[in-house]
Amino acid sequence: MKLLVIGSGGREHAIAKKFLESPQVDMVYVAPGNDGMTLDGLQLINIGISEHYALIDFAKKNNIAWTFVGPDDALAAGIVDDFESAGLKAFGPSRLAAELEWSKDFAKSIMVKYGIPTAAYSTFADFEEAKAYIEKQGAPIVVKADGLALGKGVVVAETIEQAVEAAREMLLDNKFGDSGARVVIEEFLDGEEFSLFAFVNGEEFSLMPTAQDHKRAYDGDTGPNTGGMGAYAPVPHLPQSVIAQSVETIIKPLLAGMVAEGRPYLGILYCGLILTIDGPKVIEFNARFGDPETQIILPHLTSDFAQNISDILDKKRPSLTWREDGVTLGVIVASNGYPLDYEKGVLLPEKTNGDIITYYAGAKFDDNSRALLSNGGRVYMLVTTADTVPAAQEKIYAELANQNTEGLFYRTDIGSKALK
Ligand code: AMP
Ligand code: GLY
Repeated sequence: MKLLVIGSGGREHAIAKKFLESPQVDMVYVAPGNDGMTLDGLQLINIGISEHYALIDFAKKNNIAWTFVGPDDALAAGIVDDFESAGLKAFGPSRLAAELEWSKDFAKSIMVKYGIPTAAYSTFADFEEAKAYIEKQGAPIVVKADGLALGKGVVVAETIEQAVEAAREMLLDNKFGDSGARVVIEEFLDGEEFSLFAFVNGEEFSLMPTAQDHKRAYDGDTGPNTGGMGAYAPVPHLPQSVIAQSVETIIKPLLAGMVAEGRPYLGILYCGLILTIDGPKVIEFNARFGDPETQIILPHLTSDFAQNISDILDKKRPSLTWREDGVTLGVIVASNGYPLDYEKGVLLPEKTNGDIITYYAGAKFDDNSRALLSNGGRVYMLVTTADTVPAAQEKIYAELANQNTEGLFYRTDIGSKALK
């Protein structure tokens, strides 16, 4: 069969490459993808993710069995609904189910309604009211743009002044446009963060291994927030009891609630959680796979990924199997300056072979030489599996030390939290 993956980052590279491993899959197209993916035999289609009708037309003309949607903005724009209206299968939540990600206020109201543990909050459209609330609550406190903001719409404020400034930028200065027309202001939660992903069909779900991302740009969790600088899975020091508790208090009531609301969820559910002294609490829900978590979770999957997704789309229970040993760890290599302004056009090292995988995100062929050049903030990611976190770190960092990464940077401590 032939499949289509929508998106262009490292996440979509990992998804598409995993599909291609299936003996049933002849061809995986990625729209729009990035040139680095072609080194793994993926076929790029030059159609943007917002061009739903051009994508539908492509899928029809090319006998695509089904389409996998990677990014949140495509889901928020209702791409799955549009494919379904055209009689095509697409994997991901409907626009209404994906509201769990595209409106933080909606996600919060669902959590309150169904008793799901999360930070106490209030939502504001008026700056003076937001300011008064912040002054009453005190700091630390967290200010979030209601809508999608490329992972940049969250300010964890250590002082009242910082929080008021963040609210001012969102509500008065329109820093995030419509996404910041309302702000969610919530209680600061203290504890270790982890991500729990599940394949979901209504109230049925199958968990994936736990993962931990590193969102800050620099070592020791310093510097600005990014889309994610590296990750590993499973998180070895997370007790099984915490996962079981997250399932009972978060995933089960959420999925039942979504069904009760008439918004049954089908797709990948990403729970961003924090382990507080009162147990796991929700920081956010995302309606899709994480980037870079996908790149370190999928190498752990031993079943036929394409078959698993076909089954979920056919409303059957997928038969998922995972490696039971080892840790998969990956480090992002980004352009100097990311997440702010950065240069493009840096010559990239050769793609790795053997047991270190290279997943590309911002990579583009030079028009003349066909050499692969940087073309984005996050450029590529090296991923490997080993028995332990230190063994995986050693392999990745030895490889990176041998690569010419001039003009690029990476964190040198991905996974070190697991060793404390
Ligand atoms: P988000 O974009 O919602 O994932 O938030 C970005 C980061 O802000 C999270 O990964 C957390 O580190 C932090 N964060 C968000 N909400 C809270 C909260 N209520 N308490 C503490 N940290 C938070
Ligand atoms: N790894 C963070 C995200 O995908 O949102």
